[in-house]
Amino acid sequence: MRLAITPVDPFDEDSIEAWVRLNTDVVRHEIGEAGAMWTAPEMIAALQQPSKNRQERLFHGTIDGELVATGWITVRMLDNLDAADLYVAVVPARRRRGLGSEMLAHLEQVSAELGRTRLDAITDWPYDGAPDGAGAPGVEFGRAHGYAFGLGDVQRELRLPADRAVLEQLAAQAAPHHADYELRTWSGPIPDDILGSYLELSTRLATEAPTGDLEREGGVVDVEAHRSAEDVLAEQQRVPWHTVALDSEGRVVAYTDLMVPGTDPRWIYQWGTLVDPAHRGHRLGVAVKVANLLAFQTAHPEDRRRVVTWNAEVNAHMIDINEQMGFRATARGGQLQKKL
Ligand SMILES: CC(C)(COP(=O)(O)OP(=O)(O)OC[C@H]1O[C@@H](n2cnc3c(N)ncnc32)[C@H](O)[C@@H]1OP(=O)(O)O)[C@@H](O)C(=O)NCCC(=O)NCCS
Repeated sequence: MRLAITPVDPFDEDSIEAWVRLNTDVVRHEIGEAGAMWTAPEMIAALQQPSKNRQERLFHGTIDGELVATGWITVRMLDNLDAADLYVAVVPARRRRGLGSEMLAHLEQVSAELGRTRLDAITDWPYDGAPDGAGAPGVEFGRAHGYAFGLGDVQRELRLPADRAVLEQLAAQAAPHHADYELRTWSGPIPDDILGSYLELSTRLATEAPTGDLEREGGVVDVEAHRSAEDVLAEQQRVPWHTVALDSEGRVVAYTDLMVPGTDPRWIYQWGTLVDPAHRGHRLGVAVKVANLLAFQTAHPEDRRRVVTWNAEVNAHMIDINEQMGFRATARGGQLQKKL
């Protein structure tokens, strides 16, 4: 059986919608209710108006005109220039016939043409599965193609409303430890006066968070690129909520980002949280996370969505904070890597 593989035209919205439908079905097949995927409007916006530092390329794999597999490549344009993120999905009824391998070979070839030699992939499986992904389709498929298992993640979620009394108690317990810092919370773009130090810290997330056996490179500090990424978020109708901690000189030394999708009634995404290593030990991690969630919940008391977050299984400190806030484990994930 041969797969016909074609790139998805960024302005062919029907093709993008079909791509998103297949990927949504596949992630739900893997981890059920816990499966979260970009919406079609989010993907359309990212494809039609890419930011300065991030590009998506989508592929359809069809047999006799029927869409049975998809491919997804994400590349960064200003940093991580040797890397590409790859994702292959095959409808359950057509698996173990080599279709996933055909799509992966195509993605690897396109990546090589783009000069990308470090290939990263993520895959999900149920929480009661093996922590090292043994037996999980995505991990076994990756291993069969030379992708080493680099880091195990756990997905957790908290159904809103969070217990306000618990959050307020966590905030009160942390407060005496960070009296020398100012917390600032807002929704929308990062204000100009703190953007420089926010970017200096947030671009270190990839290397400061646990990396397991993975090779990782930080991001580049580029104000224009960040503003273009914020423009994409606005096009995607994703509303960011930020809390930062500022030191006595007004520099960002801790931050957390929540992303609230305007086109998805089910999810809110907890994105990065990082405390500058020079400012650890002041409970700033719990302080910024709790303040951000409390601020969102105060502004939207009627919201009943689920806040979803991913942590490396070895990141005991962050997991402890999340569990105290009320997050509960729902699925596992793995980060795989291959060097061409
Ligand atoms: C992973 C996935 C794409 C594989 O698609 P597929 O078409 O079944 O893959 P192939 O038939 O090309 O499999 C190639 C080899 O991978 C390994 N493999 C694939 N699925 C496996 C499974 N469930 N268990 C064990 N090994 C598996 C086998 O070695 C297989 O060769 P074999 O069938 O001759 O034994 C598909 O299961 C899927 O869509 N999973 C969900 C999304 C995902 O996790 N993607 C991976 C991230 S890139």
